[in-house]
Amino acid sequence: MENQIELKLAFQIDTVNATENGVNVSWKDGHTSFYNNLWLRDACRCERCFQFDTLSVDYGNDPLTIDIRPELDQASKDSDGNLNINWGGKESSHVTNFDASWLRAHCNVEMNKRLERRLWDKELDIPHFDYDKVVNNDDELFGWLNGLHQYGVAIIDNAPLDGDESSLTAVTERIGILRDRHHPTNIYTLDTTDEVAKTIQSSYKLTKVPPHTDYTPYMDSTLTQFLYCLKYESESTGKDGYSTVVDGFNVAKYFKENHPEHYKQLTKSLVPSCRRRMRVEEEGGASITKYQLDLYKLSHVIDLDEKENVRQIRYKQNTRAPFDMPQEELEAFYDAYKAFTQVVEDQRFIKEFLLEPGQILAFDNARILHGRNAIGSFVKRLVIGAYVKGETTRSRWRMLLGKQSGMSEAWLTGCSDRVLQMLADREA
Ligand SMILES: [Fe+2]
Repeated sequence: MENQIELKLAFQIDTVNATENGVNVSWKDGHTSFYNNLWLRDACRCERCFQFDTLSVDYGNDPLTIDIRPELDQASKDSDGNLNINWGGKESSHVTNFDASWLRAHCNVEMNKRLERRLWDKELDIPHFDYDKVVNNDDELFGWLNGLHQYGVAIIDNAPLDGDESSLTAVTERIGILRDRHHPTNIYTLDTTDEVAKTIQSSYKLTKVPPHTDYTPYMDSTLTQFLYCLKYESESTGKDGYSTVVDGFNVAKYFKENHPEHYKQLTKSLVPSCRRRMRVEEEGGASITKYQLDLYKLSHVIDLDEKENVRQIRYKQNTRAPFDMPQEELEAFYDAYKAFTQVVEDQRFIKEFLLEPGQILAFDNARILHGRNAIGSFVKRLVIGAYVKGETTRSRWRMLLGKQSGMSEAWLTGCSDRVLQMLADREA
């Protein structure tokens, strides 16, 4: 399959030259990349180093086996345009045939991510996708996941109006398995006519739900959240029960640019969240031990990754626990926390819309804060919802990127998101 694809010049090797401790590869777009021998030898995909059935590195290919300065006997471009290396000295039993595209995508000095995140405010045009297409077609599924990656939020239209849980899982299972909710069911129901539910959790009550992220007290709250509207009947002319979403990454950017001292507090101070639950609504309030929970988690409101990029927003009022920070830090933190609350409830940042029957809203809980307007007594609304782990969604997206590249599974194994995005775009 690989040879049938006409590749961009950037992915075509022009010449190959071995140097003292590595290989210089010149590409047909004029760029030259250097690859260190140790790096190349460590990534060897020969039958002895890599298990092609399990797509994993063989235990025999470990740091004790690999020489720190591997000897290279010969490096050349083969008839398929790939880099062929015959190793020498202690390594002479190894021959590695490096996929040229894989090599270029791993060149360390260039090329950014293909698909940048787009930050937004109240003016956002939420990307829309079609239910049948997402359920049946991999390209549409890929487009929808790209939309989610870029905007953090997307709507699927034309889901069955008389749908049920299986109509929702027809979409979620395109990605993978549902996130365990520690409940008898992993799909929850928000029904304004259910009198019992209203007495239990704040999201089930009819008052306004301000923008928040879910699962703040859990160790892992990176989720893709799904909300499937099955009924919205209103005798009111107002925007009762309309959904709200806020781009938490845009809010973080706002603070970084306009209130750097608050930004620093929100990225450094650890805020406790908790959830203690003795009974579950699905079992009529029964206290079944296996569903009981007592959670506690310290986290940053704005969480940064190792490169100081925003990784995640964690913010919810009704899972707040008593602050656990030095008393002298508290006032400065609270100032920033108040400012954050003000901004996420500022109309400039809130995209407000009606989630209509037959629509499925999906969003990235690591980035997007969600809420809804109060539901007046003239509104009947029925929504079912579920979660997929963020990792599950990312995994499916990566698989579709890999599929797009047309490359072999052995070379797709172990590619970063950045590399996969470049490979998905290698075709001329
Ligand atoms: Fe929520």
